[in-house]
Formats: sequence, C-alpha cells, structure tokens
Amino acid sequence: MFDNKFDVVVIGSGPGGYVAAIRAAQLGLKVACLEKDTTLGGTCLNVGCIPSKALLQVSEEYAHASKVLKRHGVMIDGLSFDLDTMMGHKNKVVSDLTKGIDHLFKNNDVIRIEGTGSLGKPGEVTVRDAGGLETVLSTNAIIIATGSVPASLPGIEIDEKRVLSSTGALSLNNVPNHLAVIGAGYIGLEMASVWGRLGAKITVIEFLDRIIPGMDGELAAGFHKMLRRQKMKFRLSTKVTNAEVTDSGVTLTMEPADGGEPETLDADNVLVAVGRRPYTNDLGLEVAGVAQDNAGRIKVDDGLQTNVPGVYAIGDVIRGPMLAHKAEDEGIAVAEIITGQKGCVNYDAIPGVIYTHPELAYVGQTEEQLQNAGIAYSSGSFPFVANGRARAMSETDGFVKILADTESDRILGVHIMGADAGHLIGEAVLAIELGASAKELARTCHAHPTLSEAIKEAALDVDERAIHV
Ligand code: FAD
Ligand code: NAI
Repeated sequence: MFDNKFDVVVIGSGPGGYVAAIRAAQLGLKVACLEKDTTLGGTCLNVGCIPSKALLQVSEEYAHASKVLKRHGVMIDGLSFDLDTMMGHKNKVVSDLTKGIDHLFKNNDVIRIEGTGSLGKPGEVTVRDAGGLETVLSTNAIIIATGSVPASLPGIEIDEKRVLSSTGALSLNNVPNHLAVIGAGYIGLEMASVWGRLGAKITVIEFLDRIIPGMDGELAAGFHKMLRRQKMKFRLSTKVTNAEVTDSGVTLTMEPADGGEPETLDADNVLVAVGRRPYTNDLGLEVAGVAQDNAGRIKVDDGLQTNVPGVYAIGDVIRGPMLAHKAEDEGIAVAEIITGQKGCVNYDAIPGVIYTHPELAYVGQTEEQLQNAGIAYSSGSFPFVANGRARAMSETDGFVKILADTESDRILGVHIMGADAGHLIGEAVLAIELGASAKELARTCHAHPTLSEAIKEAALDVDERAIHV
C-alpha cells in the first residue's frame, strides 16, 4: 500500500520512465512509476530492443553456422533450427529483464502502480486500473514517459496476423515464404535480416530513393550493396497504396513514389515499418494545457519541462531520435534537474546502431550534414579487409570513417559498417563527448589484434598516415 502523496510521479516504465524513477529515488525523492501494461520496461524490453536483438542473435548464429563455419573447418552435419526454441529464448530474456526492473524498483524504493495515468488539476495525476477504479495521486513533479507506438499508412490496417507491425514480426509462428517490408529503416532492415536468415524471401519497399535516410550516404550505399548480396530485394522510390488480405497472404498495390502505373506484389506477410508516433492517448494533455508540436510530440524546453510548470517529458514522446539510450539519458537528466542539479544530455553524442550483419553504427554528423552546414572537414577511412582480426574472423566487409574539423581536427562524426560496429562505436562516442581530436584518437594505443585498430587507422588516415593500407 502507499499513501497518495509523492515528490515525483513518472507515467510510463520504458527506459526513459524507469531510469528517471530510479534516479529520482536515488536522489532522495518519494517516487511512483505508473505503467498501464502488466509488465515493466516499455517498448524496449517487451516488444523492441531486447526481443529484436534476441532474434537477431539466434538467427545470425544460424546464418554464421550455415555460411561461414565450414570455411573455417568446423563441420556440422544436418544443420537446422527450431523456431519454437528460438522464440522461447527471446521470451525468457524478455521475461527475466522485465522482472529485473521490478527488482530494481524494490531496491530503490520506487513504488510501482499498475494503471493508466492521466493529468488533471495542477499537481495531480489520476490512475485508472484495469477494473476502472480511479485513484488520485498528488505530486510536486510529473514526468511523462509514455513512449511511442508503430505508425501505419492510409489504406493499410495492421492486424498482426498477415499485416504486421514490429510487434507481430517478433512473434511469427512460422517463417513466411515471402515477407514484404514497407520501410527501409531500422525496424524494416533488422526484421528483414531475422526472417531472411531463416529462409524467407524478402522484398523491401521504400518511398525514398535510398535506404536508412538520415544516415551517412556512403555508409548507406555500402550497406545497401551488402543487403542485396544477402539476396534482399529492394524497390526504392516506391509507395504502397493498398494492402488486401487474401486467404493465402496479402496483395500489395504499389506505384512509383512520384506517380505512375500501379502494380501488385503478393506476399505471405507484410511488415509495416514506416516509423513510430508519440503515444499520448488518454493522457489528458488538453485538460492540463500541455502543448504538442505538429507531429504530436510533447514540447519541452532545454530542461525537459513542458509549458506547464512541474510537468516534464522525456524519451520517444518528445523530439529527438527514438532510441532507448537517449530516453535513459533524459531520464537521468530530468531527475537531476528536478532536484536542482544541472542535468543535461549531449544530443551531439548519441550513437545509433542497426544490429544487422554487418552492423552499422554512427555518432555525430554525416558528410551530408557537414556539407549542408558549410563546415570544412577532413575524412579518414579504413577498410576491415586490411585489419588482421577481421580477416581471422572472416569479417572483412565494411569500413570505419572518421570526419574531423579541418581547422581544429576535432572529431565531428564517426561512421562504421562492420562486425561488432555497435560495440566499436563506444570509443567514438567518448571521443566526441570529450571533444577529442583525430590525432588524439590516433595516438591512443589500441590492443592488437582487435577490430578497434580499424578506428585508430581511420583516425591516422584523417592525416593521411594510415599504416596498414
Ligand atoms: P517506451 O519504451 O515506449 O515506454 C513507454 C511506456 O509507457 C510503455 O510501457 C507504455 O505502456 C507506458 N504508458 C503509455 N501511456 C501510459 C499511461 N497513460 N499510463 C501508464 N503507462 C503508460 N532503441 C534502441 O536504442 N536500440 C534498439 O536496439 C532498439 N530496437 C528497437 C526495436 C524495435 C522493434 C522497436 C519497436 C523499437 C526499438 N528501439 C530501439 C526504440 C526503443 O524501444 C525506444 O526508443 C524506447 O523504448 C523509448 O523509451 P520510452 O521510455 O520513451 O518509451
Ligand atoms: P525509421 O524511421 O527508421 O524508418 C522508416 C522508413 O520508412 C524510412 O526509410 C522511410 O523513408 C520509410 N517510409 C516512410 N513512409 C513510407 C511509405 N509510405 N512507403 C515506404 N516507405 C516509407 O522507422 P522504423 O524502422 O519504423 O523504426 C522506428 C524507430 O524505432 C527508429 O527510427 C528508431 O528510432 C527506433 N528503432 C531503433 C532500433 C535500433 O536502435 N537498432 C531498431 C528498431 C527501431
């Protein structure tokens, strides 16, 4: 039981909300965290980062065993996979981690309240439980961390049977013969990788004339080539106008993005992965007078406070990349701001990773952004084919590219395509966070033989003095 007075009420228990709740409790505040779903952890733990990475891991192990091990002299007769066991692994990881947050709440004296939270009078939050019972909490501060949900397209209804969002695509009972994916972004390409590795024919339909918009153009072009080599088919500059569910699957109608003759495509399943929208249903934003932008995101100032004093918002429901680590960092910052500290997030140093094979990872600015901003930069790059460890691993695809300010040599962007890029990007994030120069990165000793030596070599190449090319 709890009394109804809190210092902070957090609405939503995703990586933004649960981290904010724990940090606020660490700082001595009395905190409640409201969650409408039966498990904690939000999109990330339940239907996002964690289950997708579990399936990417197991499907990559299968692909690696079938494609690479024989070349390394490891012989496996009759290699096969069991989808139920793969899904079981995914479900157990999710279940263990979501229960882990309950445990963290108990350790930190955060009070978990099950129910849907909504704003009302200043300093009040109403929680409605599954049975419709309402409880009013009073609080000094409110943190909205209600996250996001999949977006769809006009004329396309997601039924999670034939027409899937990422949630349905994470729980298919069998491998589709043909999976059509609408959207060549993070979700589209990760889920296409999972099901493609397990044997599905993949067709990715993208509205724009390139994949992963927003990422560095050279990286995206190289990645597009790799995916085509993995037999993924792409229809760029194409828009889907209709999806008709039939007895045996789905028939998509599509046409050139700038207009033209329509054509159809039959698939067993369709994944709609055209972005996510901020989730603010039933939150009472209008009643409380909390302002949103044209995209439905809650507007916040530099201190993550909305236009209503004492009401803050973080994570996917506000501006910025929809990434778990961005939400977490904002969770920490907002708790510190509420307790009078100088919490802040360095938005220039938030990495992005696509966990395909090879992986893509980046931090900072792309070449296109620097060119558009008129910033003079020098570029250094190094291919994994020239890295000893990458050769030993048969992971020679890809490269590291470092962009540094021509005058100051300060690192402005790092872009990696290659095995383990998601782990490798860590040192680049630290370099940008600390304002390091390419020379400082180049001068730093990197263990041999590791993939990370490719970063050192790319940093040397900014000054045209790479050793191993
Ligand atoms: P969420 O995680 O969406 O949590 C919001 C929570 O609030 C939910 O639990 C919801 O039920 C609850 N809620 C909403 N309204 C109310 C209410 N009124 N009352 C009570 N509770 C409420 N990001 C990465 O960084 N790395 C990845 O590898 C990655 N992979 C992803 C894979 C997929 C398939 C998807 C869909 C997303 C992925 N993301 C990834 C994005 C990541 O999941 C989100 O950026 C992150 O979860 C956002 O955190 P959040 O706390 O803002 O919101
Ligand atoms: P996304 O924004 O990454 O990609 C959407 C793609 O759909 C874009 O290429 C866009 O041009 C395309 N598109 C939009 N409308 C279209 C249309 N009508 N027809 C065809 N294509 C269209 O969005 P996605 O993949 O849905 O993921 C949502 C967010 O979730 C990501 O932006 C990311 O923030 C997060 N995420 C992060 C992951 C990670 O960190 N590894 C993994 C999965 C999701």
